Amino acid sequence: MAAQLGREWTGIQQFPAATQTKLHELLGKLKEQNVSTLTILVMGKGGVGKSSIVNSIIGERVVPVSAFQSENPRPMMVSRTRLGFTLNLIDTPGLVEGGYVNDQALQIIKNFLLNKTIDVLLYVDRLDAYRVDNLDRQVVKAITDSFGKEIWRRGLVVLTHAQLSPPDGLMYDDFFFRRSEALLKVVRLGAKIKKQDIKNTPIPVVLVENSGRCNKNESDEKILPNGTAWIPNLVQTITDVVLSGGTGILVDKKLIEGPNPNDRGKLVIPFILAFQYFFVIKRIEKWIRDDIASESRPSWA
Ligand SMILES: *[C@@H]1O[C@H](CO)[C@@H](O)[C@H](O)[C@H]1NC(C)=O
Ligand SMILES: *[C@@H]1O[C@H](CO)[C@@H](O)[C@H](O)[C@H]1NC(C)=O
Ligand SMILES: *[C@@H]1O[C@H](CO)[C@@H](O)[C@H](O)[C@H]1NC(C)=O
Ligand SMILES: *[C@@H]1O[C@H](CO)[C@@H](O)[C@H](O)[C@H]1NC(C)=O
Repeated sequence: MAAQLGREWTGIQQFPAATQTKLHELLGKLKEQNVSTLTILVMGKGGVGKSSIVNSIIGERVVPVSAFQSENPRPMMVSRTRLGFTLNLIDTPGLVEGGYVNDQALQIIKNFLLNKTIDVLLYVDRLDAYRVDNLDRQVVKAITDSFGKEIWRRGLVVLTHAQLSPPDGLMYDDFFFRRSEALLKVVRLGAKIKKQDIKNTPIPVVLVENSGRCNKNESDEKILPNGTAWIPNLVQTITDVVLSGGTGILVDKKLIEGPNPNDRGKLVIPFILAFQYFFVIKRIEKWIRDDIASESRPSWA
C-alpha cells in the first residue's frame, strides 16, 4: 500500500521562502475546501515545455528534458505528498506528428488515464510563437473530443518562454495580449465554446519561464518580466480554477471507448441524404420541370 503513495514533496523546500509560504497557503486553502488531491494533466504540441513545467512545479528534475532528444513517448505521472495533500502531475507526449494530430499518442494518453480523475488541464504552448493555425485548433478539438468540452472549465492556457523581447518594438504587454487572444480564439473554436458561454468558461492564460536563465528578484524568486514570481502565480491560478467550480473529469472505460466516431458518422449519413433529397434533388427536379415548361420547343429543334 505504502509503495503506491506518492513520495514526500521535498522539492518544495528548494523554493525560496516566499514561494514556500505561498504554496503552503494555497494547499491549506484547497484542503479547507476538502480538496486533498489534485491531478493535473499537461498537454500540448511537442517541444513547448510540458516536461519542464512538471519539473519546475515539483522542484526536482523528475522528468528528463533534452533539447536534442525527441519527447518521452509515454505519459508519465509524478506524485508528491505534502501535509496530507497529494499532487499528481501527468506529463504527456506531444500530440502532433508530421503536421497531424497523432491519434495513436492520444489513445495511449487516454488509456494511461483510465480510472483517474483530471482535476486541471494545462494546455501548453509557447509565448514566443507568432501564429496560430488550423493544427492548433485540431489539437484542441482532439482534447475536447477525448474528454468532453467540460474539461475546459478546468483548463488553463500556459505560455512558456515568457522571458522574451517582443519583435518589432512591440510592448511586452501588447505582445502577450495579442498572443493570448489569438490562442484563446483557437481554443474556443476547437472546444466549441460559443460566444454566450465564454463567461462560464473563462480560460485563464498564465506565463511561465522554465529556463535556468529566468530572472530572479532580490529574494531569489524566479520572476516574469513584470516582476511577478511565476511559480506562486501559476499555482494560485490553478487553485482559483479548481475552487471556482466545475468538476474533475473521471476517465472511465466509457469515455475511452466512447462514441465510436464511425458510428457517429453513420448516424449523420441519413440526414445528409435527406438533406440532399429535399434541397438538391427536389430543386433539380423543379429546375428540370421549369425548364421543360418554359421551353415549349426544345432549343435544338
Ligand atoms: C468538508 O468535509 C467536512 C467533513 O466531511 C464537512 O463537515 C465540511 O462541511 C466540508 N467542507 C466543505 C467546504 O465542503
Ligand atoms: C477501473 O475501474 C473499474 C471499475 O471500478 C475496474 O473494474 C477496473 O479494474 C479498473 N481498471 C484499472 C486499470 O484500474
Ligand atoms: C520577490 O518575490 C516574492 C514573491 O512575489 C516577494 O514576496 C518578495 O517580496 C520579492 N522580493 C523582492 C526583494 O522584491
Ligand atoms: C504580471 O503578469 C502576470 C501574468 O500575466 C499577471 O498575472 C500579473 O497580474 C502581472 N502583475 C502586474 C503587477 O502587472
